[in-house]
Amino acid sequence: MAVLLAESEACPEEAPAPPALEDLVQALHHLFAAEKVNVAQITNINKNPVEDELEEHNNSGFDDQVEIYTRNLVDKGNEKFNLMILCWGEGHGSSIHDHTDSHCFMKILQGNLKETLFEWPDKKGVGEMQKKSERVLKKNQCAYINDTIGLHRVENPSHTETAVSLHLYSPPFESCYTFDQRTGHKQRVKMTFYSQFGERTPYTTSVSQENN
Ligand code: SIN
Repeated sequence: MAVLLAESEACPEEAPAPPALEDLVQALHHLFAAEKVNVAQITNINKNPVEDELEEHNNSGFDDQVEIYTRNLVDKGNEKFNLMILCWGEGHGSSIHDHTDSHCFMKILQGNLKETLFEWPDKKGVGEMQKKSERVLKKNQCAYINDTIGLHRVENPSHTETAVSLHLYSPPFESCYTFDQRTGHKQRVKMTFYSQFGERTPYTTSVSQENN
């Protein structure tokens, strides 16, 4: 049975420190070097709590001049995946969108994010899109979606707190469809980065899929 130490006594075996961003990137490269990777393996890596340093790393993605959430590319994953940090100002949200046949993993690093799932709109019909579910994800919680599960919108529901999330897309994609909730009409949008590898991306808007 474990011996319970008094508060003043140092614990001989401290719990391992949570991984830093570089450790996470390395672990992902290792995983993706294999011929096949499964969703559970990535979800498991993502489940580890992350170091505070990872959060600090991201606050550079907040910019009062930008009225939408920012996308900040962290790693290109040997073209097999894209890892990025998204910085959500108060009330910022994405449009309802698909994932271009890719896998999408999302982990909350700071604050809360609301995820609303929608059914794909009927090909023939026009009208209000059907909501499947909604939930609020908290710090260190993870989510996974692909196009067979449906479409989603992500929002920072807070009007006083910012939020930060880590996203992994595999394979990477540069455009997706966004959908009008009232009509189901879709339009293709190009996705861009506010920063890449810590450097501000010149002459671009950060993303073109703010709520519609
Ligand atoms: C989201 O899942 O809402 C973020 C989409 C993006 O990658 O910009």
